[in-house]
Amino acid sequence: MADVDAGRSGTFAIGGEVKIHRLGFGAMRITGAGIWGPPADRAEALRTLRRLPEIGVNFIDTADSYGPDVSEELIHEALYPYKGLFIATKAGFTRSGPNSWTPHGAPDYLRAQALKSLKKLGVERIDLWQLHRIDPKVPREAQFALVRALLDEGIIAHAGLSEVSVADIKAAQKVFKVATVQNRYNLVERGSEDVLDYCEAEGIGFIPWFPLAAGKLTESGSVLEEIAKTHGHAPSQVALAWLLKRSPVMLPIPGTSKVAHLEENVAAASITLSDAEFAALDRAGKAASAA
Ligand SMILES: NC(=O)c1ccc[n+]([C@@H]2O[C@H](COP(=O)([O-])OP(=O)(O)OC[C@H]3O[C@@H](n4cnc5c(N)ncnc54)[C@H](OP(=O)(O)O)[C@@H]3O)[C@@H](O)[C@H]2O)c1
Repeated sequence: MADVDAGRSGTFAIGGEVKIHRLGFGAMRITGAGIWGPPADRAEALRTLRRLPEIGVNFIDTADSYGPDVSEELIHEALYPYKGLFIATKAGFTRSGPNSWTPHGAPDYLRAQALKSLKKLGVERIDLWQLHRIDPKVPREAQFALVRALLDEGIIAHAGLSEVSVADIKAAQKVFKVATVQNRYNLVERGSEDVLDYCEAEGIGFIPWFPLAAGKLTESGSVLEEIAKTHGHAPSQVALAWLLKRSPVMLPIPGTSKVAHLEENVAAASITLSDAEFAALDRAGKAASAA
C-alpha cells in the first residue's frame, strides 16, 4: 500500500530535537462513547494501534483523561516498547462520567497524573506532556511552574499547551520551553490563526484537534467536494491535505478506532494540492468559519 504512508506528510522536529512524521494519530477515539470506558470493539482498536507503525505513523497523541486511562493502557498493550514511536500525553482534566470534563490544574494533581501516565505507558520519561487546559481557578504561573519542574526532574522530555492564546504561550515561554500547542482548528474553524502564525514563527508544533471537521464544505457542490472529486479522494482527506499545506509546523492527529478509517486518513499525506486549490479551499473555509 505505497500510497498509505505518513512519511509522505514530511517531518517536524519536536522541541527542535525529535523528528516525527507530521501526520499523526489521535488516540481519544479508542475509548467508549463519551470518551468513557473501553471501546466498543477492543480488538479493532488494538489492530488500529498496531497498524500505525506499519504505515509510517510515529506520533501518537493521548491523555490520562481518555477513558480515563483506557487510551494509555491500550497504547501500552498494543505498542510497548514503542520502538521509533513518539507518544504525547496530557493532564489537566478530571472526569466524572461520559462527556464530562472539568479542568483541574492544582500542581499536586498535575504531578500525580504525570507520574500515573509514566506508569500506564511504562516509560521512564514521557516524550511530550501537555497541559490539557489552563485551569482558570489556579494561577497559570503555578501550573507553568509545575510543568517546568516535570521537565527539570526528567519526568517529561518536552512540554506543550492546549487551548491557549498567544498571550498564554508567551507567559508560558517565560517559564519553560513550549514545544507544542494543541488548539481546535480545521478548514472551517479558524479561530486560532494568530496562534498558528505565532507557533510557525517560534518553531512550535501546532497540533490541530478535530482536524476532520469540514461541516458545510462537504455538501454537494461545495469547493471541497469539487476538489475532492478531481483528486478521487474523500472530502475529509482533502481537508487533511489542506491542513498539511497550511503550515510546516502543522501536526494533524485525526482520531479513529477503525483500521479502514486510519488508512483512509493517512492516505491524505500523499495528496498534493495545487496553490490554486489551496487558496480556493482557504477562502471557502474562512467564509464558512465567519458565517
Ligand atoms: N486538546 C484537546 O482539548 C483535544 C480535544 C479533542 C481531541 N483532541 C485530540 O485530537 C484528536 C483528534 O480529534 P477528534 O478525534 O475530536 O476529531 P477528528 O479526528 O477530526 O474526528 C474523529 C471522528 O471522526 C471519525 N473518523 C475518523 N476518520 C474517519 C474516516 N476516515 N471516515 C469517517 N469517519 C472518520 C471517528 O470515528 P471512527 O472511530 O468511527 O472512525 C471520530 O468520530 C483526538 O483523538 C485527541 O487526541 C484534543
